[in-house]
Amino acid sequence: MKSSLPLAVTENRLQFVRRGSVVNLQNVSPTRTLLQVLREDLGLTGTKEGCNEGDCGACTVVLAEKHGKQLRYRAVNSCIRMAHSVHGQAVFTVEDLASDPLIDRQGQALHPAQQAMVDAHGSQCGFCTPGFVMSLFGMYQNRVCRGESVNRATAQADLSGNLCRCTGYRPILDAAQRMADFPQTQVNEPALRSLLDTIPPPAKPTTYLAPHTLAELLQARRAHPEAQIVAGCTDVGLWVNKEHRSFAQVLDVTQAAELRQIESYPHHLAIGAGVRLSDAFDALVKDRPQLIAFAERFAGLPVRQSGTLVGNVANGSPIGDSMPLLIALGASVVLMRWAGRGSQGRIEHRELPLESFYTGYRQNRLAADEVVAWVKIPKTRRPLLPGKASGEWTRVYKVSKRFDDDISAVCLAVSLQIQKGLIAEARVGAGGVAATPARAWATEEALRGRPWNADTVQHAMEVLGGEFNPISDMRASADYRRTVLTRLLWRSWLDSQPGTVQPVSLERLDERALLGEVDA
Ligand SMILES: Cc1cc2nc3c(=O)[nH]c(=O)nc-3n(C[C@H](O)[C@H](O)[C@H](O)COP(=O)(O)OP(=O)(O)OC[C@H]3O[C@@H](n4cnc5c(N)ncnc54)[C@H](O)[C@@H]3O)c2cc1C
Ligand code: FES
Ligand code: FES
Repeated sequence: MKSSLPLAVTENRLQFVRRGSVVNLQNVSPTRTLLQVLREDLGLTGTKEGCNEGDCGACTVVLAEKHGKQLRYRAVNSCIRMAHSVHGQAVFTVEDLASDPLIDRQGQALHPAQQAMVDAHGSQCGFCTPGFVMSLFGMYQNRVCRGESVNRATAQADLSGNLCRCTGYRPILDAAQRMADFPQTQVNEPALRSLLDTIPPPAKPTTYLAPHTLAELLQARRAHPEAQIVAGCTDVGLWVNKEHRSFAQVLDVTQAAELRQIESYPHHLAIGAGVRLSDAFDALVKDRPQLIAFAERFAGLPVRQSGTLVGNVANGSPIGDSMPLLIALGASVVLMRWAGRGSQGRIEHRELPLESFYTGYRQNRLAADEVVAWVKIPKTRRPLLPGKASGEWTRVYKVSKRFDDDISAVCLAVSLQIQKGLIAEARVGAGGVAATPARAWATEEALRGRPWNADTVQHAMEVLGGEFNPISDMRASADYRRTVLTRLLWRSWLDSQPGTVQPVSLERLDERALLGEVDA
């Protein structure tokens, strides 16, 4: 792959565990994807390339990494994952399930994820099948092996990143639910951990820097300001694959131990730059359970298991999904840098409200020696309960062309503090209607201090309709965006009214009706 900057002298060594031994690779370029390494360097062509942009799931593999005393399994898209990001982890591909010496199949020829697909007739042309099987394997490890039963909803959620063009999804969902019927198959985790322990951190210097501490990360950022920062690469991977961009040096923020944490304080959550979207959303949903449907509509599971919340915020797409919500919740970003020479310096930080982080289309206030280290999100105070006149009312709505694995055309997030029927505080975030994720200041003003009733909301809708000048593009016309944005505010009001409450995931009901699970 061509690069615009001269490569540093480096061995660029990459090591991971596969099929009971450590794979050793030398001179792997920093932007080589895991899929390229598997298919082209290791000849593992069972893992397929479909879209090469994280959409179809044909390239799904499962990663296992140490997490305290446990191992964590994550199905990810290998096509947009940089190969070096799996250094020190275990990689399972579709070839391994029936032959990995670390998987005890209890005398069965196939792994339950494979046998269930055979028995349920879950494959026709077969192109998508390796990807589905690997998502099923991830589900098996994370649910079946932990004694959790797989129902239709969990099967759908875990397979949300896999597309099939010919079989139809019912047999595949059946397969997901049948996996538990077979003798339980276990990964020999003690043996796998021992192998993982033999892999040292990457040698230095390298063109793929993945520092293991915050101080090292900030020093590396200061020393290599031209290096491309990456986290989960679910945006950057597309620049590499689709725009053929290459980077002479990459700085991966996800290995810094301090930033892999979610810290819970009395009044806020702090989510580090290495925290994957799936874990970040779990924490948000624990605090505000009503956000579950929104969290499940962010991409598909493999993207959420690679991508980070901080990556979404730093990327700053005007149609990025988390920012309208975070703006409505009053979130801030903590930017950090290393001050001083070499290891003798110290960490400096500054904190900005999220809405003032953005300065223009995909532009922000990050300096050349800074990283976004944390997103701080205020916790819910007291939720507004049905029939009550005081509490917090928070809702977020995403409108996209497809339910799963699609980014917003329009997004609206509303967070109100209501006291005795009056709106004491109002924060409104909007996506898809401006060059940046935006705060709807005028709409907030139209809500603040007024009663939370239909008249107030209708007035605020007029204000909201005039507050932004959206563009027309392939996702939606400007008129559509403006109109839908105002209707979402109305929907938020309706949802707060006892008796007119809509299930937040109403769209799912239509799908489930098609699958014959509920009456249409
Ligand atoms: C199939 C698919 C579906 C998707 N669906 C959605 C969706 O529904 N909603 C949505 O909003 N997005 C969606 N995305 C986009 C993407 O998944 C998100 O933006 C994700 O949160 C990016 O996080 P990441 O860790 O992968 O970032 P990366 O791709 O690693 O980085 C993105 C940008 O952020 C910068 N960056 C990352 N971390 C830091 C840091 N700590 N400090 C400074 N800069 C940093 C990088 O330099 C880069 O410019 C989708 C992507 C794919 C491929
Ligand atoms: S090839 Fe389609 S998601 Fe990777
Ligand atoms: S079996 Fe053909 S795409 Fe799924």
